[in-house]
Amino acid sequence: MSILKTDNLTFKYSVGTPFEVTALDSVNLEIEEGELVAVIGHTGSGKSTLIQHFNGLLKPTSGKVIVDGQDIWESKATLKEARFKVGLCFQYPEYQLFEETAFKDIAFGPKNMGLSEKEVEERVLRAAEFTGVTSEMLDKSPFDLSGGEKRRVAIAGVMAMEPKILILDEPTSGLDPKGRDQILHLIRNYKNETGSTVMIVSHSMEDVARYATKVLVVNKSKIVSYDTPPKTFSRAEELESYGLDVPEITKVFLELKKRGLPVRTDVYTLEFGLNELKRLREEGFKL
Ligand SMILES: Nc1ncnc2c1ncn2[C@@H]1O[C@H](COP(=O)(O)OP(=O)(O)O)[C@@H](O)[C@H]1O
Ligand SMILES: [Mg+2]
Repeated sequence: MSILKTDNLTFKYSVGTPFEVTALDSVNLEIEEGELVAVIGHTGSGKSTLIQHFNGLLKPTSGKVIVDGQDIWESKATLKEARFKVGLCFQYPEYQLFEETAFKDIAFGPKNMGLSEKEVEERVLRAAEFTGVTSEMLDKSPFDLSGGEKRRVAIAGVMAMEPKILILDEPTSGLDPKGRDQILHLIRNYKNETGSTVMIVSHSMEDVARYATKVLVVNKSKIVSYDTPPKTFSRAEELESYGLDVPEITKVFLELKKRGLPVRTDVYTLEFGLNELKRLREEGFKL
């Protein structure tokens, strides 16, 4: 059974006004448990609107959202359940930190779930470990932390709710390359250790290529592809037509192919590319 499914999900903003926008148009998707899904698409394609449907923050104009086999809008109880099962971390989540200490901020979500104090503390410490938030940082005011540290505290707050599905909207935006790598790394570790399903909205193809097990491509309110990274990036020209940029290394191999070398065109990481070049050399091609 899939962990997350939509059935002809359509969403319009400002219905009945001159500003009406169809942000999602009959979206059908089905995601299996344990995947690390990268959601990519040009600005305004509908990515944030889509993920806000998964924990019931937005209500479909028509169609269904099914989490763990349950139509989330069936009753108040199913909606509440979906809010616990699906943890959503907004873009620039650090702006929502407000408690006196980082510890309290991370504890906020689990506390609201009605867990015992002991369980809340255990969860905070577990989430802090995943995100590299040290005990010294836990005692500080979030306002005394660096930008990257704040971001990690905010992500820990969602992880501490231990959702079955963790969704992060552009978790690396505004960070320097080191901060970006740290965040992506910790998300992957979290996914590997907990076995949870994770979705990352990203506009960086290079990030997606390295970390995701599946890539969901959104274009103009519709899902145009849902596949593995190599299969997705082998359709480079199509992706470019959606205003997306394929990884640099993919471009290099597409160009080699154009020039007549018998190379694979589903290359999307440097390591994969080097192996492919080694293979060619072993087959006698002069490189
Ligand atoms: N609160 C809103 N009110 C009206 N229109 C919105 C709102 N949020 C987003 N939109 C519109 O919906 C479409 C999809 O936006 P969004 O889901 O934010 O895309 P993305 O996250 O891919 O950049 C865009 O046309 C955008 O202008
Ligand atoms: Mg967005």
